[in-house]
Amino acid sequence: MAHQATISAPVNIACIKYWGKRDTSLILPTNSSLSITLNQDDLRSTTTAQCDPIFSPGDKLWLNGKEEVVKFGGRTATCIEVLRGWRRDLEKDKGLEPLSTYPLRVASHNNFPTAAGLASSASGLAALVFSLATLYSLPQSLGQLSLVARQGSGSACRSLFGGYVAWREGTQPDGSDSIAEEIAPRDHWPEMCALICVVSDAKKGTSSTSGMQRTVETSTLLQHRLTIVPERMSSISHAIKERNFDSFAQITMTDSNSFHAVCLDTSPPIFYMNDVSRSIIAMVEELNRVSGELGYGRIAAYTFDAGPNAVIYALEKWMGLVEKSVRRWFPQEGIVEVELEQEGNKVLGKFDERVMASWGKGAVKSLIKTRVGDGPRVLGEK
Ligand code: DP6
Repeated sequence: MAHQATISAPVNIACIKYWGKRDTSLILPTNSSLSITLNQDDLRSTTTAQCDPIFSPGDKLWLNGKEEVVKFGGRTATCIEVLRGWRRDLEKDKGLEPLSTYPLRVASHNNFPTAAGLASSASGLAALVFSLATLYSLPQSLGQLSLVARQGSGSACRSLFGGYVAWREGTQPDGSDSIAEEIAPRDHWPEMCALICVVSDAKKGTSSTSGMQRTVETSTLLQHRLTIVPERMSSISHAIKERNFDSFAQITMTDSNSFHAVCLDTSPPIFYMNDVSRSIIAMVEELNRVSGELGYGRIAAYTFDAGPNAVIYALEKWMGLVEKSVRRWFPQEGIVEVELEQEGNKVLGKFDERVMASWGKGAVKSLIKTRVGDGPRVLGEK
């Protein structure tokens, strides 16, 4: 009977963005990054890995029901080879059944549209690595597994942990210290929620992989960004440790804008955000202006990956207001009254009419409500 493991792995959305590689084959980044793992009850990749000596030779992989070629020397093959090698060592040491010699069958499924611009490669590659580690009963730590997932897709290394996760760029040429680690567990700040505004579900024009390479080759602004990120990494880690949302929001939004600025500074330029994305920025800034004036500080933070969809982070108590604001997208003329509620005290704030008028036309296609979540889960094993 085939040996089998089924696991699920979460999506993560970066607050400090990874953009640029110093080594494209080992996937070593030009800067450290930091993300929040989202709840896999809402968004996940589920992967089943099997191995059996009776399978026909060669490994096979299916993504959302469609067979994918496991290209020799490609990223997926590299991850499989490393994990198989670790299993081989274990078999030699402990005299275990030679699973490493059996062909593999891996089937992975995302519960969200792959083209929706969400980090499907992150959850998918993390799921691949975690399913094989479970199948092979590997003793390696999550940190060590993150070194493998990183070689599948950089951002995937962060999806091996729940909560608040840093990927340290490292200095070693072999990548042995370019590793992900949890900086705070989900339960440290469980009120953190995320509203994903799907602006477009079309497949993105420039992939992250080719886009970031073009930025490394042509952007001078990237060099400036790289001098600033270390300070941002420590400030945001501090903000998370202190549960300081105002500071967290300021750093998250600034880093998203810095990332999109280096995209614009790339030749030819890369535009990931569209008019609706920019309108969402205007709306969140306006929301924060009103909440700031009322003494609550910033209450929402936008961030955009390599696509037009927004992820808005907000604490649970403010999420209803944020969602209501998004749903009132392009509202009727005039001033819209925004109710700010906290602990029973109702306060009325107003959006500025001129800012409202500058909002672009367009609609948010769908909203996904989620929150900070835990790391990969084992769903079944035999
Ligand atoms: C904008 O991890 O998809 O989402 O390493 O080439 O597979 P590769 O790139 P990928 O890039 C993600 C870029 C980003 C920022 C981030 O998640 O940190």
